[in-house]
Amino acid sequence: MNISQQLERGKRSLVHDPREGDDNKITLVRAKGSLVWDDTGREYLDCTSQAWSNNLGANDPRVIDAAIAQMREITHARPNFNTIPLLQLTAKLREISPGDLNRIGYCLHGSLAVEMAIKLAYKNRPGRHNVIVLQDSYHGRSLTTMAASWPHPNNPFLPIQPRFTRVPHPDPYRPRLGLDVEEDSKLCLSLLEDTIMKGVDGGVVAIMMEPILGNGGHIELPLSFLKGVREICDRFGVILIWDEIQSCFGRTGEMFAADYYGIVPDIMTFGKGIGGGFPLAGIMASDRLDNFDAGEDALTFGQFPVAMAAAVATIDAIIADDLCKKARDHGAYATQRLHEIADRRKLIGNIRGPGLFVSIELVKDRKTKEPALRAASEVYKRGVKKGVLFGESRYAGLGNLIKIKPPLDCTHEQMSLALDVLDDVLGSIEADGIA
Ligand SMILES: Cc1ncc(COP(=O)(O)O)c(C=O)c1O
Repeated sequence: MNISQQLERGKRSLVHDPREGDDNKITLVRAKGSLVWDDTGREYLDCTSQAWSNNLGANDPRVIDAAIAQMREITHARPNFNTIPLLQLTAKLREISPGDLNRIGYCLHGSLAVEMAIKLAYKNRPGRHNVIVLQDSYHGRSLTTMAASWPHPNNPFLPIQPRFTRVPHPDPYRPRLGLDVEEDSKLCLSLLEDTIMKGVDGGVVAIMMEPILGNGGHIELPLSFLKGVREICDRFGVILIWDEIQSCFGRTGEMFAADYYGIVPDIMTFGKGIGGGFPLAGIMASDRLDNFDAGEDALTFGQFPVAMAAAVATIDAIIADDLCKKARDHGAYATQRLHEIADRRKLIGNIRGPGLFVSIELVKDRKTKEPALRAASEVYKRGVKKGVLFGESRYAGLGNLIKIKPPLDCTHEQMSLALDVLDDVLGSIEADGIA
């Protein structure tokens, strides 16, 4: 079998069916900074940062060197042992963790970090049973986290998933009943309080939420709602879990969304951007909470020393290169350009942030806000043809979101090119009458 036959057979033998439109999935062979290359040698500007994970651009030599140096020493140690990068990383995270989030635990995937957070919350509220989540949240694809996420139509796993209680959250672009954002926020806080008191049987362990809803439509929750939830948790002794897997390590323009909003949860998850391209995730927990006892949380590869060494180098690089400031600067530039583009391209209904957590919602009509689904998938396809990978969101029933979230250390020219291409493809889509 030659290499192209091998690749073809590999493609046809994967257990994950390609999603509609993904049949011609790009095969990536190389990445550097904000650029990736496919197996035909084509170059793309990656505005997805590979699922918003390469906050520091891909293959940064400081990260690769640290990982290789660690590989020469030891690549695997089971959780019964400490390793140097484990302890170094933990000390480093303590220096930058918000408030009293001084206890740190690790795993390799965001979904498992969320499960770890839920387990620790349960451990600290014995006798209580319920975890409340927001209706458009996304927390992962393990059995538990999928159940905690926006409900999947025809979800085949329902019979073996734990149950969560979902509450509504404010949506500044689509507030309920013609309310304004602040009234919507107040209404949702009062519904949350009602749910804790009367909407569930028994006590509530935790409220788990993303500070900015990521995959569920990129919704920037109003500060009044974030503060109100914190206050309600304090009043009812409920643990507040913030899932920062998507917002952590500079994406919002601060190291964590907790810093950006000035609110400290009781447990916070992190993932994606921490590993500099290596798999790593985990939780930071308040030192007021009890820790896990032996055996309550341990995964064979959960403390992968190579990823930890890479993470130490990644955090050093994020700080040394002032990537939080770069996120703010690129984000401000992108937002200003997007507003200019929106003057010409009526498909743009809304522009969202903060920092380089940037997206636009495409709508058929600015008054009705009806999602422009075909236009959004055309933006992706036409972007690919022009060498730019835009993020899309087909989750949470919308599917009309375009995300422009390159690595935080992309150049001004790259940011500008991405926006030129976006402007261009929106123009051609409008000219073709697609919405
Ligand atoms: C907020 C949030 N939580 C959890 C996850 C799950 O992370 P992973 O895919 O690493 O399991 C994601 C991934 O997109 C996420 O955005």
